[in-house]
Amino acid sequence: MTPTDYEYLRKLLKDRSGLDLSADKQYLIESRLLPLSRKEGLAGISELVQKMKGGSTSLTTQVVEAMTTNETFFFRDKVPFDHFRDAIMPEILKARAGRKSLRIWCAAGSTGQEPYSLAMCLKEMSAAISGWRIEILATDLSQEVIEKSRAGIYSQFEVQRGLPIQMLVKYFKQNGELWQVNPDIRAMIQHRQLNLLHDFTQLGTFDVIFCRNVLIYFDQDTKINIFNRLAKIIEPDGFLVLGAAETVVGLTDTFKPFPEKRGLYRPNAARAAPAAGIVAPKLAAMAGR
Ligand SMILES: C[S@@+](CC[C@H](N)C(=O)[O-])C[C@H]1O[C@@H](n2cnc3c(N)ncnc32)[C@H](O)[C@@H]1O
Repeated sequence: MTPTDYEYLRKLLKDRSGLDLSADKQYLIESRLLPLSRKEGLAGISELVQKMKGGSTSLTTQVVEAMTTNETFFFRDKVPFDHFRDAIMPEILKARAGRKSLRIWCAAGSTGQEPYSLAMCLKEMSAAISGWRIEILATDLSQEVIEKSRAGIYSQFEVQRGLPIQMLVKYFKQNGELWQVNPDIRAMIQHRQLNLLHDFTQLGTFDVIFCRNVLIYFDQDTKINIFNRLAKIIEPDGFLVLGAAETVVGLTDTFKPFPEKRGLYRPNAARAAPAAGIVAPKLAAMAGR
């Protein structure tokens, strides 16, 4: 791969997915894209880049997807799901007792372990939410992971990561070496391909947003832009849940940390976000691509 190829890929990935690669990540590109170039019958990364420059959009999509990190597992980090059960849901049950509805968005849900973990948490509190209308929307940049999430089929290895055995037995059906999430749990989740760099106001408003382990790949301006746009579609008394290595602190005051609950944030009543409809010019340009 020539330095020009690397710069081309770096810019393309930043524009298409937000991935912010430093100048020394050639090895990462090679480890992810050499298998793809082989699969396409190409001699290497330079030939891959030539084909992309020639206008192959399907190849470009495959390159962007190959460069995303889809690592996830059931009840990842545990604490956010404890917060969901012990802090978020008790407040929601009180605050929404009148309208009995709840909308949750998993904004980078990958292969589904995160939204299914939330669905199982909710199933475990069936009595408290009886008669409620609950929506869980799982979105991701990658169509491939969305398809896997929709199918809800996991290997033995995947169900052994984070999922308590009682939940496996209760909420999954075994089929040979694989396990599928039961239809009632699958039916709780809607799936959709969505790029966080693009406008998402059409999704409506949410009471709870899980946006975990995706913003770490973005630069500061992109993170700020996404936080400000999330602030516009979260209910004023809603909850934002971030990954263990992510925070709003020092980036925006549209959200404030929930005291003593790591990773949990609430919209700031003062709402310092820019006026509705304004998208930072850089991202507005990306949305048009
Ligand atoms: C490391 S996984 C995190 C999955 C899950 N939230 C968790 O914490 O276990 C990051 C996911 O973000 C997705 N992603 C990367 N860039 C994105 C973008 N611009 N818009 C939406 N999703 C994106 C990737 O496809 C990947 O599935």
